[in-house]
Amino acid sequence: MEIVTARLTLRRPAPADTDAIFAIHHDPQACLHNPSDLLATRADADDLFRRWDEHWRRHSFGYWVVRNRETGAIVGFSGVKVVRFRDREVLNLFYRFAPHAWGNGFATEVATAIVVWAGENLPDWTILARVRPQNHASQKVALNAGLTRAPHLDEPGEDGPDQMYTMRW
Ligand SMILES: CC(C)(COP(=O)(O)OP(=O)(O)OC[C@H]1O[C@@H](n2cnc3c(N)ncnc32)[C@H](O)[C@@H]1OP(=O)(O)O)[C@@H](O)C(=O)NCCC(=O)NCCS
Repeated sequence: MEIVTARLTLRRPAPADTDAIFAIHHDPQACLHNPSDLLATRADADDLFRRWDEHWRRHSFGYWVVRNRETGAIVGFSGVKVVRFRDREVLNLFYRFAPHAWGNGFATEVATAIVVWAGENLPDWTILARVRPQNHASQKVALNAGLTRAPHLDEPGEDGPDQMYTMRW
């Protein structure tokens, strides 16, 4: 399954993408607000790929590899994952890009395409984004993609307080 946007392509991760998974998740800048996501070793990236792949096997969707259509280079990862939140199964919206690719509107372009895709393919599902209070870029991406700030759902996350953004809650 592939999603194509104006400047980017999204496709299911393959084992060969593990180097890029490691490169981006081993970069402290890319995990600044979510240090629990920082990967220490290449073996950790193998594990993360396996978890992403298992989600794809179970649900036929998950996190996509995002490539620049012009250069073919991997610029990041984004997608939705089924998680349990307050006794509901919801879609957790995720995006993480390589710092060199920031500031081009890529996250907004991708998150918007994924939210549209979910609306067409998983129309009954709530979408949730958990964002750290100081992660202003991520907050903007959630809003740009059409989610709404939901302060009544805020709760502690793995790295401290999380602010919630939702669609169809
Ligand atoms: C969050 C992230 C995905 C944004 O990626 P990006 O491609 O640079 O985002 P965009 O270019 O679409 O920018 C989105 C908006 O944030 C704004 N923005 C970017 N960096 C910002 C910053 N440091 N502070 C405030 N706003 C910022 C942009 O100006 C843009 O605003 P606009 O919609 O008014 O034009 C990227 O910074 C990233 O990968 N961060 C590390 C991983 C992460 O934190 N993921 C989210 C976990 S909840």
